[in-house]
Amino acid sequence: MGSGIAQVAAQAGHTVVLADTNIEQLDKAKQKLAKIMIRLVEKERVSAEEASAIQERIEYTTDQNDFAGAGILIEAIVENLEVKQKVFSHFETIVDEKCILASNTSSLSIASIAAACKNSGRVIGIHFFNPAPLMPLVEIIPAVQTSAEIAIAAKELVDSWKKVTVLAKDTPGFIVNRVARPFYGEALKIYEEGVADFATIDWAMTELGGFRMGPFTLMDYIGNDVNYTVTETVFKAFYYDPRYRPSFTQKRHSEAGWYGRKSGRGYYDYSEGAEKPAPNTDASLGNEILNRILVLLINEAADAVFLNIASAKDVDLAMTKGVNYPKGLLAWANEIGLARVLDQLDHLHQEYGDDKYRPSVLLRRMVRNGEKFDLG
Ligand SMILES: NC(=O)c1ccc[n+]([C@@H]2O[C@H](COP(=O)([O-])OP(=O)(O)OC[C@H]3O[C@@H](n4cnc5c(N)ncnc54)[C@H](O)[C@@H]3O)[C@@H](O)[C@H]2O)c1
Repeated sequence: MGSGIAQVAAQAGHTVVLADTNIEQLDKAKQKLAKIMIRLVEKERVSAEEASAIQERIEYTTDQNDFAGAGILIEAIVENLEVKQKVFSHFETIVDEKCILASNTSSLSIASIAAACKNSGRVIGIHFFNPAPLMPLVEIIPAVQTSAEIAIAAKELVDSWKKVTVLAKDTPGFIVNRVARPFYGEALKIYEEGVADFATIDWAMTELGGFRMGPFTLMDYIGNDVNYTVTETVFKAFYYDPRYRPSFTQKRHSEAGWYGRKSGRGYYDYSEGAEKPAPNTDASLGNEILNRILVLLINEAADAVFLNIASAKDVDLAMTKGVNYPKGLLAWANEIGLARVLDQLDHLHQEYGDDKYRPSVLLRRMVRNGEKFDLG
């Protein structure tokens, strides 16, 4: 992630110091960027002069003292709170008072990272999506300690890098990794109930729903080990709210070493010559699957608005620009009709007697008042 973020900043014209404790990673990052630049020149996205200027703007170093004089420091090291806290308190001794200290963490609380600093008001979350140069979305996450000026300055800076920024509250999963949970969780549950197999669920979501990848193809791509850990972390962080309950199917796949593409086998077999199973393309089954996953995604999106995690507009931007959803979930809800969404959720809640399906209070209130989401 770090090298991608360095590329974004260098392309925006900044001088960048890319530091890593591992020199091999630095070499890899340098070579990767050189290859990317060759491709961008071939595609005429940048001129040859620009490509070399971008590369020259990045200094590769193992010495963090080279950060002295930086205006902003973006940390993208191992996802471990203790390590990040140690590094942040060390950063404070290197940079001057005005330097913004940002973390690219996906799952740790920004408040807990900021707590390691004497001047915690200048610490903020700046969460990119992978690969950073290609994915437009960046979540800006002020901690409770972050000063308003730092939040504004960080947002303005990343906006000037031609990214789409959204403001998110410092809560587990921020926007995207919270709202997207049912895309995986409900797909796994539908499979576990024997309603449909992996290929059919993927077909329903891509062909009928317009999602770029089906949930099982996507989990195989992310890695079942990684995706399971994120789900478990979010579940624990939400004090075991059943909405975020992980799945045994994914746990077993992960335990078996069936991580997905990287291990050659996940929900699908990626070995050479392996055939992909054919889906059942029954339209009514497909629509049942799509609707069930979709109303739960909409419910999450509505609840994120209800709990002031982000504005309705930013929630929709986050899902379309961070994970390529075909439509904003709340715009989708307006289209379907909020009363219909609520009706389906109420039905699931009653049928299962499981709090996992409880409808968002906001949805119920909006239906009662005949309202739609304001996405302006
Ligand atoms: N991979 C993703 O899709 C993704 C997306 C968004 C955010 N993130 C977040 O970005 C961060 C990094 O993730 P990643 O996937 O790039 O991890 P990674 O393991 O690929 O890279 C981490 C790098 O940090 C270096 N490092 C470790 N400790 C260090 C230290 N003390 N000082 C300097 N360098 C150190 C390692 O050598 C390694 O090169 C994590 O916080 C992660 O949650 C990752």
